[in-house]
Amino acid sequence: MKNTTGLFALPARVLHWLMAAMILAMLFIGVGMVASVSERHAWLLRIHKPLGIAILLLAVVRLAVRLRYPPPPLPADLPMLQKLAAHASHWLLYALMIAMPLVGWAMLSAGGYPVMLSDSLRLPAIFPTDPIAFAVLRHLHSWLAMLLFLTFLAHMAAALYHGLIRRDGVLASMVGRKRGA
Ligand code: HEM
Repeated sequence: MKNTTGLFALPARVLHWLMAAMILAMLFIGVGMVASVSERHAWLLRIHKPLGIAILLLAVVRLAVRLRYPPPPLPADLPMLQKLAAHASHWLLYALMIAMPLVGWAMLSAGGYPVMLSDSLRLPAIFPTDPIAFAVLRHLHSWLAMLLFLTFLAHMAAALYHGLIRRDGVLASMVGRKRGA
């Protein structure tokens, strides 16, 4: 099914902006958390875990929305290399939105820590307790966070390039304005 509206579907737009704010907040909460030795560490971790699981659930919904409602096509005159880079970075973002929370959850499971979403809601372990796996997953969580942050920056730079320099309607299609309007 081809998208001829020139716009991303409403659910795709809502999920895009909501998750952009959530992911950016998570990256800063994560960095703030590992840099804190006060009681702020526990407070940030209490936000980090449920927010991360919410991102995982929304990422699955978003993937379903992406498959149900195809995005508007990129401008026909966009160089092939830029089209390839756009598609590759979008799928990388989907992969990271799903991998990051799963690695965080698996890491705490491997460390034998309970994954509490609230005082009473405990998630099951998704990885057997194993200190070596905990160390590996802990590093992986940091490296993936770095990759997510860099991909996020590249994505924002590309959006600004489309919106301010090419003015080709790509940014407008995610804001909700029709191309050429
Ligand atoms: C999109 C989702 C997530 C993002 C973007 C994210 C991001 C981060 C970042 C940036 C750090 C700091 C890394 C470092 O500098 O070493 C971090 C640490 C951590 N994250 Fe996540 N995270 C996500 C999901 C999760 C989930 C779902 C859990 C657990 C259920 C989790 C548990 C942790 C823990 C335990 C730490 C280490 C805290 C510490 O050592 O003080 N994360 N995360």
